Amino acid sequence: MTQQPHHLEPAAAPVGKGPAILIAAIAALGGLLFGYDTGVISGAELFFTKDFHLSAGGEELAVSGVLIGAIVGAAVAGQIADALGRRLTLIIQAIIFGAGAILTSLAPNVIIFVIFRILIGFGIGAAAVVAPMFIAEMAPPAIRGALVSFDQLAITIGILVAYLVDLAFAAAGMGWRPMFAVAVVPAVILAVGMFFLSDTPRWLAGQGRWEEAQRTLARVIGAAEAEEELHGIRISLENEEALPWIVRVRQLLRPGLRWALIVGVGLAVLQQFAGISTVIYYAPTIFEIAGFKTASTAILATSVVGVVNVVSTVIAIFLVDRLGRRPLLLIGAAGMMVMLTAIGFVFAIGPNKAAFLILACVILYIVSFAISMGPVFWLMSSEIFPNRLRGTGASISTGANWAANLLVSITFLSLLHAAGNALTFWIYAFLALVTLVFVWFIVPETKGKTLEQIEAYWRNGRHWGAAPSAEKPAEPTGVAGR
Ligand code: BGC
Repeated sequence: MTQQPHHLEPAAAPVGKGPAILIAAIAALGGLLFGYDTGVISGAELFFTKDFHLSAGGEELAVSGVLIGAIVGAAVAGQIADALGRRLTLIIQAIIFGAGAILTSLAPNVIIFVIFRILIGFGIGAAAVVAPMFIAEMAPPAIRGALVSFDQLAITIGILVAYLVDLAFAAAGMGWRPMFAVAVVPAVILAVGMFFLSDTPRWLAGQGRWEEAQRTLARVIGAAEAEEELHGIRISLENEEALPWIVRVRQLLRPGLRWALIVGVGLAVLQQFAGISTVIYYAPTIFEIAGFKTASTAILATSVVGVVNVVSTVIAIFLVDRLGRRPLLLIGAAGMMVMLTAIGFVFAIGPNKAAFLILACVILYIVSFAISMGPVFWLMSSEIFPNRLRGTGASISTGANWAANLLVSITFLSLLHAAGNALTFWIYAFLALVTLVFVWFIVPETKGKTLEQIEAYWRNGRHWGAAPSAEKPAEPTGVAGR
């Protein structure tokens, strides 16, 4: 049973956005490690393949080991974060990242290397669930979209930094080992930073620790707002008992909440099915096929893609709480569809020297992804599930995202071979069209709503009716109604 909130402090002047931004920036280091540790492989691969004398199959395993670990990490992270708290789970993940970075860089043979890459993958998958969830549960509703998108920004920065670090160590002739080792730096900062933060108000309230929940909320959004939001949290927690995992999954399949799961898993799978990982992992290959003849020009073109990804995500941060989630998703999916179709056409009928045309299309594709499915999937996965089911729901959708990532990554080269360059990109274009239709008909606009209002939306049969936080408490609790 949830307890009533204890005595609450009197309303004070609202606080600025500073504390919330700082908290989001620290937790987003989880995203930075996600981006770095997925991106680092593209440059490192060229070196460890030679050192370990890998066959094509061995290389595939070395590259995809991280994705296998990520599926498992994502699947269990929600349960761990519900049981131990978001904060402690992030600290444990930081330790895994740090240890994984050092151990991978010391791996004496490929088997040990793959084992440690799976361990790092576990950390990545778990961070992909918990970092955005931590930020969403901390953030004031009006800027939640921007703050959770810090995580995606950090992912893109991590990917770019990995490309650049790879280039630097390759140029210095230092090989692959230091490329993996440097990830220990953000891992340590994440562990130390999280140590000084409190857990989220939603998790603390779920544990019956109402005073701490109130203090944390007051620090982030001000005491007056905190009272209102705490009331919404109390009602939401009363709606759901703390239940075993399997029962929680069954609850997510109930009519009403089932739609949250459909939106979460649908966006998860479509984020990958429209081809982003092929561009992120195989950009140099795509550019070589397109006609950038030397490996270094292909890698340079890839770095341009990395920069565009970061810059466009910054634009998304400014737009996501103003324009809203749906317009960004619709514009982005349409842009991705057009660009993928165009890439297919350039491959099919384009002039011989079409390299720059392909580069331009890939850049516009990345812009479209980075203002839409990139940040908005992670945002919605962390905000659409009810308080007590958030860990479980976010775990399921993130696990689906990694499984789809693995599927697309391991089939891309065979698809190019079997279907040809043009058809491959048209298949992704079709899946971008499916995304457009899915968003249009199924995905709600969550801009500016509290997490508890979003929960009420599903329970009301997908209507923005009276939200729990809009009602007065049944009996005086010291918490103001809205
Ligand atoms: C996706 C990753 C992708 C990255 C690129 C993330 O949102 O989940 O698969 O590599 O964006 O920026």
